[in-house]
Amino acid sequence: MSKPIVIAVCNQKGGCGKTTTVAETGACLAMGGAKVLGIDLDHQCNYTEALGHLDEETPGAYELLTGKKRLEEVVLESKVQNLYFVPASIDLSAAESELMGMIGREHQLRIALAGAMDGKYDYILLDNPPNLGVVVMNALTATDFMVVPVQVYKFARRGLDRITNFYDNVKHFLNPGIKDWMVLPTLLDFRREKDVIMLQKLRDQYGKKVFTSQIHVNSKILESQEVGSPVVVMDKYGVGAKQYKSFACELAEWVARVGVAS
Ligand SMILES: Nc1ncnc2c1ncn2[C@@H]1O[C@H](COP(=O)(O)OP(=O)(O)O)[C@@H](O)[C@H]1O
Ligand SMILES: [Mg+2]
Repeated sequence: MSKPIVIAVCNQKGGCGKTTTVAETGACLAMGGAKVLGIDLDHQCNYTEALGHLDEETPGAYELLTGKKRLEEVVLESKVQNLYFVPASIDLSAAESELMGMIGREHQLRIALAGAMDGKYDYILLDNPPNLGVVVMNALTATDFMVVPVQVYKFARRGLDRITNFYDNVKHFLNPGIKDWMVLPTLLDFRREKDVIMLQKLRDQYGKKVFTSQIHVNSKILESQEVGSPVVVMDKYGVGAKQYKSFACELAEWVARVGVAS
């Protein structure tokens, strides 16, 4: 039976498109026929809300991370066929401090996901909070791949090096099986000259570690999150949907290629 491919979307900065990338990519992969599970690990619940789920009482990632519930008890069906999710709630803000007191705290998510290794899902996507705390350590300990969305306008080498050093440490101490990371340029706006310059700088400095796909600022993406539906469903022929579909294809090819090689 095949094991799902786990992909963590991380960046210690907020507002760089992590949640949007998880929401849109998950929907694209599911619409392409894959079985996808998205997990909201951010107590701000933006991914949960982007899927139209507004009930804060539903058990979810907090219960999963602290061992209070099993995976199958917290998975919900989304409105998109083949796309399932684990919601976040405000309780998740307590997970950091609860985990700090636990032995094996970085391994809780990996252990919880072991229940999903039975061929039920093809992909598990992890949406992370904007920090490098113990929840993100759990995500990277449970994952095969890391995707780092970078808001091109605000790209700073130091910030990106911080998350990749964090990845290296997790690989060394916690998850030697983690396979690779790549960067996705997001929120591009070519009406700003700085975006053109910064994109070039990002591609020059990180070369093949940057996806060919890139995501532009698109008002339909904002609108779709307000109505609780991915843009690839709400405006499926629009530019935002096209760019995320192209990214989802590139992502699927990358993980398949690296997965086979390792
Ligand atoms: N391509 C895009 N075009 C327009 N708005 C976007 C785009 N991507 C994200 N946003 C908006 O920018 C904000 C931050 O994006 P989000 O995905 O929540 O980032 P993060 O999860 O990294 O904090 C949100 O309001 C989101 O709706
Ligand atoms: Mg977010």
